[in-house]
Amino acid sequence: MATATTIAELAQHVGQTVTLRGWLYNSRSSGKLLFLIVRDGTGLCQCVLEKTDSSADQFAAAKRLGQESSLEVDGVVRADQRSVAGHELAVGNIRIVQDVAGYPITPKAHGTDFLMKHRHLWFRSQRQWAILRIRHTVIDGIRRYFNDRGFILIDTPIFAPAAGEGSQTLFAVDYFGEPVYLAQTGQLYLEATMMAHRKVYCFGPTFRAEKSKTRRHLTEFWMVEPEIAYADIDDVCALAEDFVCELVQRVLRERRAELELLGRDLSKLEAIQKPFHRLTYSQAADILRSDRVRQFLEADLEHAKARVAELTKTIAEKEAERAAPGVKEWKADKLAQEIMDAREELADTEELVHNLPRHMELAAGFQWGGDLGGSDETIIARLHDRPVFVTHYPRGCKAFYMKRNAADPRVVNNLDLLAPEGYGEIIGGSQREDDLNVLLERMKEDGLNEADYDWYLDLRRYGTVPHGGFGLGVERTVAWICGLKHIRETIPYARMMGRIYP
Ligand code: 4AD
Ligand code: MG
Repeated sequence: MATATTIAELAQHVGQTVTLRGWLYNSRSSGKLLFLIVRDGTGLCQCVLEKTDSSADQFAAAKRLGQESSLEVDGVVRADQRSVAGHELAVGNIRIVQDVAGYPITPKAHGTDFLMKHRHLWFRSQRQWAILRIRHTVIDGIRRYFNDRGFILIDTPIFAPAAGEGSQTLFAVDYFGEPVYLAQTGQLYLEATMMAHRKVYCFGPTFRAEKSKTRRHLTEFWMVEPEIAYADIDDVCALAEDFVCELVQRVLRERRAELELLGRDLSKLEAIQKPFHRLTYSQAADILRSDRVRQFLEADLEHAKARVAELTKTIAEKEAERAAPGVKEWKADKLAQEIMDAREELADTEELVHNLPRHMELAAGFQWGGDLGGSDETIIARLHDRPVFVTHYPRGCKAFYMKRNAADPRVVNNLDLLAPEGYGEIIGGSQREDDLNVLLERMKEDGLNEADYDWYLDLRRYGTVPHGGFGLGVERTVAWICGLKHIRETIPYARMMGRIYP
């Protein structure tokens, strides 16, 4: 009898007859040999079926099997360094569970829009498989980090009667005739529980009606928010820094194979070490207006223009090669995929060429008082090889609950953490305003209705202490760690403006 096992465990079964249960990822034949690439959720394995007199029928049936047919394969495990998982299976017997024809996602070329519409199937592709495993490990790492350090998990509500992060991005829902909002943050609720438990965190889905279709914005994303008592902005920065280093190291330890599969430059992740750089907002503003940044962006523009020319040429060459007479089908498919990839990169690069002059203008004309835009963050982040904290923003561009700075009341004790390689903000946080009167003043400035926040103000009436915390967005973190251009592949079912299917 063959032992049922998984591809991940093949190493323990070398020389034995085992059964793998999975799906057909791909197959090719060469004369008397049929190579079935089987995936079973834990990995890929090449299963080799030899055509003999006794296996002729099975060979013919297996050869006709369509991609993603479900099947069980019995065979002997052979160690093989050249094969995908270091092992292959010498097939004895195959049982077909379902013979599939016409699986929509073929090894042929597909555009992103098509793939996003087939998200329910796209999960099975190698890259998507790797990304969601890394996401799993990031989430697991988040939970372990806080649980191991005595933080108490608090589940904050998703129905919220008032804004937590400004009224611009609220999703209203009808709550028995009352308008309430989907949570933009759990922070205010978390602050109350921090007063009871000292160190707490919440972790859940977060909703923002972001009307921009950027690479960084989802309307539904996951955020983890720790909150600590008796802490100032330096304590919050120290926590954020330690936390991010631990997360990256965990992924490097536990998901190296998946990162490699994605083609991630591991040295960039290995460089994520303490201490992170720290800039104040005012310093960041000076940098944005500097000659150094102007020259840097001019070089970017030249580089992008050269890349456009290069890609245009490559695409034309590949088109010609594909259209040439006598091209083999596999070669034509390969070229089609390469052309599609080059076209996507070309579109991105053309967009960059179009946007860069505007980004240069924004940076050069940056006015003290305004929030850093996405392109400004990208510039600052790209100048550093480690994450960089930008602190002490003008209070007018930040949320009402942030602590006014004692030395310079124009700014607040807040922090944004920008990930390197141009990824931008992955963490936003602050020390909180613990003075009742200053908080009330600040709420008036923002036109907030005091009555809506009366319970929150109680926290400043009864035993107020210096405290603070931050929020880290899971998807932006996963995009950065995986080295993805767009946030949409980091969450199983992306919700963005104009995208809600499947
Ligand atoms: O900077 P934000 O808005 O901070 C807060 O919500 C605070 N209440 C957190 C706190 O201090 N407890 O959001 C925090 C992080 C961002 O840095 C980003 O990583 C992520 O949440 N984020 C988004 N991710 C994807 N799509 C969006 N639309 C996001 N908006 C914020
Ligand atoms: Mg923010």
